[in-house]
Amino acid sequence: MIATVLYFVFLRSAVVEGALNPWAEGSASGGDCFCEAFLPNSTFPIGQLISLENTAVEINYKLELEISKVEMYEVKLQVYIAKITNLTVLIELMERDPDSYNELQLEEVKIQIKQVEALIVELKASIQTSSTVLISIRQQISVVIAVLTELEITYDKNLVLVTRREYIILQQKLEECERRHDELFNPDIGICTHSGIRRISKPIISQLNADLTSSYAYGGWGKDSKPMPGSENMYWYSASSDTTVNRIIQYSDYYKLIMRQPFKIHSLYVQYNYDRRGTGNNYVVRENTMYYQFRSPFAMAKWNMTSATIEYKVVPEASTQFSYHYSANQNLDFAGDESGLWVTYATAESKGKLVLGRINEESFEVEEVWQTSIFKPSVGNTFMVCGVLYATRSVDSKTEEIFYTFDTRTEQESYVSIPFEKFQEFYAYLDYNPTDQKLYMFNNGYYVAYHVWFNHEGSLTGE
Ligand SMILES: *[C@@H]1O[C@H](CO)[C@@H](O)[C@H](O)[C@H]1NC(C)=O
Ligand SMILES: *[C@@H]1O[C@H](CO)[C@@H](O)[C@H](O)[C@H]1NC(C)=O
Ligand SMILES: *[C@@H]1O[C@H](CO)[C@@H](O)[C@H](O)[C@H]1NC(C)=O
Repeated sequence: MIATVLYFVFLRSAVVEGALNPWAEGSASGGDCFCEAFLPNSTFPIGQLISLENTAVEINYKLELEISKVEMYEVKLQVYIAKITNLTVLIELMERDPDSYNELQLEEVKIQIKQVEALIVELKASIQTSSTVLISIRQQISVVIAVLTELEITYDKNLVLVTRREYIILQQKLEECERRHDELFNPDIGICTHSGIRRISKPIISQLNADLTSSYAYGGWGKDSKPMPGSENMYWYSASSDTTVNRIIQYSDYYKLIMRQPFKIHSLYVQYNYDRRGTGNNYVVRENTMYYQFRSPFAMAKWNMTSATIEYKVVPEASTQFSYHYSANQNLDFAGDESGLWVTYATAESKGKLVLGRINEESFEVEEVWQTSIFKPSVGNTFMVCGVLYATRSVDSKTEEIFYTFDTRTEQESYVSIPFEKFQEFYAYLDYNPTDQKLYMFNNGYYVAYHVWFNHEGSLTGE
């Protein structure tokens, strides 16, 4: 009898939502309530889904507002640039022929310069505020996507699908808004006139990896650092439950990545008696080619995903004795930046101190090396930006910091402190991508990214 009532309760709560309290119906049967034993764990919380859909409407409204602001900034910036151009022309004229201008005209130009200056300060402040809003929207979406992923794993995937689609569309809209915003804020993608990293954003959590398991903690994700024409939006992902690199998966864009719809899965497993697997999760993708640490023999490998061919090269000095702080087997770490392809490792001769090498992309040889003074096992990870090596270390379970830089252009090293927040403590992958100036981290199985801000002394976006 009680079982029948409870079954009815289950049916209703499955249809209506968790908000309809099954306990009320259970008590109505008159007896003691021991519903717990009968209630299936798979009762779908429709109420939660409805609330997530309402949140989508809210986020969309906020996003539309930000998009209109970005449009306004773009117009304003164009007007200011025109004003500055006019003033520059006028000042040149005055300089050439100072005698034909009077005091009053000079004063007028000075006032105009002051006005443009004030407008730029104002615009800078608005862009900064807007940037904070975009990051908070990004985080709000990430939280919902995480909840949806959880619902998808626990309950029925199909029920979640529509809501998930809505959020992915929001994410794409946000991505586009961020791109336009970044162009205003960071009009220098690919340019190296800045003097290094100033600040790193809060972590932007995209979602749990495509295998939907946090036991796949050893992996990486990102974009091509030198994309072939037409594959600028491509994302790649690779992960495993240990440090072995078995495969790499490619997605045509962000939407496909989040929907877990790859266009290509490249297996590196043994084929025709040839084991192409890697280890250590410190790969990069550049020109549709994956550079990674070959497992056997210990070497750097180049897996051309266009031609599906492989090449490997032993680096005689590199040692397998020294890995990074967080994970084993990270002996060769690849990085791609604005200026080329790089590899770091440690040598027995240097007793574990990190060595940085530049790889010649044509010959696939390490053509130049620099010795740093940092001990590799105490380093969290490294990445390259504009020919400068950045090394991180753990501060505490929630904080990581860039503590060291080595500039290959000046051969200068320096100890710095640029802290940034971690989503979760353990991470197996960190790299910079020069095409969007973002850091990509594989953080305990989650796709995490960061915006990077650079020092631009005396420029519009600098401090
Ligand atoms: C229901 O399932 C979820 C996800 O598998 C689990 O975390 C939770 O402990 C389960 N609850 C009960 C009461 O079994
Ligand atoms: C720049 O100068 C031209 C010609 O003198 C003028 O027509 C235009 O309005 C000026 N633009 C601004 C933004 O001041
Ligand atoms: C990969 O292979 C294609 C086709 O053979 C070739 O055109 C391309 O240059 C190769 N890429 C690299 C990075 O070697």
